[in-house]
This record gives sequence, structure tokens and C-alpha cells, in this order.
Amino acid sequence: MTDDQLNLQQYLQDTAQQLEEAQVYLGHGTDNYWDEAVHLVLSCLGIPLDADTAVLEQPVDGEQQTRVKTWLVQRIEQRVPVPYLSGEAWFAGVPFAVNRDVLIPRSPLAELIEQDFAPWCMEPPRRVLDMCCGSGCIGIATALYLPESQVDLADLSVSALEVAQQNIQRHNVAQRVTTFESDLFAALPQDRLGSYDLIVSNPPYVDAQDMADLPAEYRHEPGLALASGEDGLDCVRRLLAEAGRFLSENGVLIVEVGNSWVALERAFPRVPFVWLEFARGGHGVFLLTNKDLAQYREHFAL
Ligand SMILES: C[S@@+](CC[C@H](N)C(=O)[O-])C[C@H]1O[C@@H](n2cnc3c(N)ncnc32)[C@H](O)[C@@H]1O
Repeated sequence: MTDDQLNLQQYLQDTAQQLEEAQVYLGHGTDNYWDEAVHLVLSCLGIPLDADTAVLEQPVDGEQQTRVKTWLVQRIEQRVPVPYLSGEAWFAGVPFAVNRDVLIPRSPLAELIEQDFAPWCMEPPRRVLDMCCGSGCIGIATALYLPESQVDLADLSVSALEVAQQNIQRHNVAQRVTTFESDLFAALPQDRLGSYDLIVSNPPYVDAQDMADLPAEYRHEPGLALASGEDGLDCVRRLLAEAGRFLSENGVLIVEVGNSWVALERAFPRVPFVWLEFARGGHGVFLLTNKDLAQYREHFAL
């Protein structure tokens, strides 16, 4: 059978095999080569990812194969992650526009959002800050799951905030979601002091060793979104020192630090970080209450 006679099922199998032979790194939404092929081919051909399996019988014509080939070359030779080719990534069941100015959404925090942050917040949080928002995926998904919430998004990167704005428009939440260009809390308005029921953050936290070892795929993502000093904690230290002033009395801080959880425990051995667990995988997400932050204030002083 020649290439121009392949149906979608066969074409996907062939693509998955090419991806596996090239040993592309999986870590941007899939964990096996078949799923990676499905994402790449269906997104490229404009077929919904949840299409009926009957589409597998459809032939893939020469023009379609040429289109997929240009993506496959970028995926294999330049190691470009599929969401940067398609311009879209799904997070907490919600589609987000992405480009190379933002991290590709993949945080385990999605699971907490889908559960309205229960049981970690006593009541669904009404005032929320997504600190280091990138595409805005965490804050915007939170606004969609919690229709009563008012959400602020903050990021240092103007180009990331442009993507976040696109996503705010796309999901029609401009009435409840506001963006701030800010170096952490520096440019947040005074009226935000003591206001947030929840500050949630996936800040940069990759340490120097992991940065040096990053697979090529991650080098397409902005360095500002990943690197955070020798031990990965530069940004997190500042968050810990500053977040308390912006939390409401019963407010909660939830931060992803990934592999840098080891360094964090080492840096603050007396602080009782609560490490959250995830049914779908992921690790290195801690929770501290405003009261914890106040109690251990001297430990966090910079
Ligand atoms: C790991 S990415 C997370 C993006 C998004 N929250 C997500 O989960 O996909 C970290 C983000 O922090 C931003 N950032 C880095 N340093 C910052 C700072 N000092 N203040 C505010 N944002 C910062 C980067 O621009 C990047 O968008």
C-alpha cells in the first residue's frame, strides 16, 4: 500500500512509529507516542481530538500528508512541542491559546481547580490571584469553574500577558479577570493588600542543574518561565516573603515547586509545608495558610 492510500488509523500508526524512532521527548500533554501522533495529526488536519472513531477509516490524501509532514519535520528535527505548532493546549478541560511567549500549560494544579480547591479552601475562594500566570490557564480555568470568583493574573512578561488577554477574551471572562504586569507583587494595587482568599502560583522553579539537562523540547519555552537560580528557589523565596500581606485572614497560598521541593524542605526545615497529592500524577505542590506565613515570618525574611 502506498502512502496516498493510507487511512487515518494507518497514518497515525506510521506517525507514532516515526516519533518513537526519533525518540522525541514527551512532556507537553502526552505520555506515549500514539497519543503524541494523535495530537499532532488531528490538530494539523483540524479534526477534533474527541471525534468519533469512524474518522479512523477516512483516507488521508496527499495534500493532508504534505501539511502533516511540515509539522512532523519541526517536531522531530527541531523538537518543537505540538502545542506550539497547533497554537493550543488543554488545561483542566479548557482550551487555551499558546505561543512561544508562554509555558505550555501542564500543571497538576488543574486537578485542584476541577475540584474547586476543596478541601483545601473551606469555601470556594471568591478573590483569587494567579501569580506568574503565563497563558492565564490557572486563573482563567479557576474563573470558569468558580463563576462567583474575581481573579487577578500577574506576570512580569508583557508578551505572556498578551496571550493571557487573548484567553480572557476567548473565554468571555473579562468582567471577572484582570491582568497586571508586575514583578511578583510589586505593581499590584494597594487595595489588593489583605484581599485574596487564594493565591495560587506555578512560578519558575527549575534549578541550574535541571536547566542544564533540559530536553530540547523545553528549550522552546521562555527561560523566564523556567529558570529560578542555582537551587530553583529564587522566585519562591520572594513569594513566601511577600504573599502573606496580600492574603485575607483565612487565605491560603498554593505553590508548585516540582523537583525543587527537596531544596525547599532543606532551606526551611522548620516550616510545616503541606504537600498535596494528585490522582493524575504530579508532585511538588505545597500549601501554607496565611497563619502559617505569619507564624514563620522570620524564616521567610529576605
Ligand atoms: C512556570 S511559568 C507558569 C505559567 C502558567 N502559570 C502555567 O502554569 O502554565 C512561570 C511564569 O512566571 C513568570 N515570571 C517569572 N518571573 C516572574 C516575576 N518575577 N514576577 C512575575 N512573573 C514572573 C514567567 O513570565 C512565566 O510566565
